[in-house]
Amino acid sequence: MELSRKVLMILMDDSLKENSLAQQNRKVIAMKIAKAFETGRWLRGYIQGKLLADPVFHVACESIPKQGGSVTDLGCGLGLLGLWLKAHGHRVTYRGCDLGGWKIQAGHLAALRLGYEGVTFHECDMMQFSLGNADVVCAFDILHYLPDEAQERLVCRLAEAARGGSLVLVRNGMRGCGWRSLVTLMEEWWTRCSGWIGGGRINFPERESLVAAFDREGCSVEVCPLWGRTPFSSYLLRVVSRSDTQEQP
Ligand SMILES: C[S@@+](CC[C@H](N)C(=O)[O-])C[C@H]1O[C@@H](n2cnc3c(N)ncnc32)[C@H](O)[C@@H]1O
Repeated sequence: MELSRKVLMILMDDSLKENSLAQQNRKVIAMKIAKAFETGRWLRGYIQGKLLADPVFHVACESIPKQGGSVTDLGCGLGLLGLWLKAHGHRVTYRGCDLGGWKIQAGHLAALRLGYEGVTFHECDMMQFSLGNADVVCAFDILHYLPDEAQERLVCRLAEAARGGSLVLVRNGMRGCGWRSLVTLMEEWWTRCSGWIGGGRINFPERESLVAAFDREGCSVEVCPLWGRTPFSSYLLRVVSRSDTQEQP
């Protein structure tokens, strides 16, 4: 009894050490990436906080194969996902696009300062940006910038990519999640009013409708909450072709 208690304590101690080591490592990487943005203290603080508090970067890092392949990131903002992957030793080719020219430029300069290769940033509308047969297509926090009809078109393109063999990762705040949806909406108002992000009507999707749309397009979807330590209504959809998940006879 005493021995098993000691073994358990050693195991717990090891896993705590491992966790705090991983956490420490994440902090160092977040700081390194933030420092590469020579755009003022406020932005550097924002980048560091976002990389540490938002679980989407960790989840994407775990879902994207480390050895190679390609990632397309729609509405990439400052390209933090690409920098995070590279900082974690991923050998992927990363292409990000965003309408915000200054963000694209800042991300590009940060990648140069960090000496990362295989990272490209494009200033353009994601509705026109080719998905480039990427192994993984990411659409993080972008759907709510699009009116219904454009959301539907984008979902069709993403589903087509999944049917072609891509893993599609969609993360977005959702409508209908009580106080979380309200806080997410308020934060979005703030980003628009402050000029941080330009955009038209705020149009958060509904989780069930989004899943149903991918389902109609022949995709299989795994859904889970992904708000981490944030107060937002964020969910992650992991979308693949249904034919990949069906059991062989
Ligand atoms: C909330 S930010 C998310 C940034 C990034 N995906 C992330 O998770 O860190 C949304 C981004 O989508 C961009 N965006 C909005 N509409 C867009 C469009 N039609 N084409 C490309 N980017 C767009 C905005 O400029 C903004 O940088």
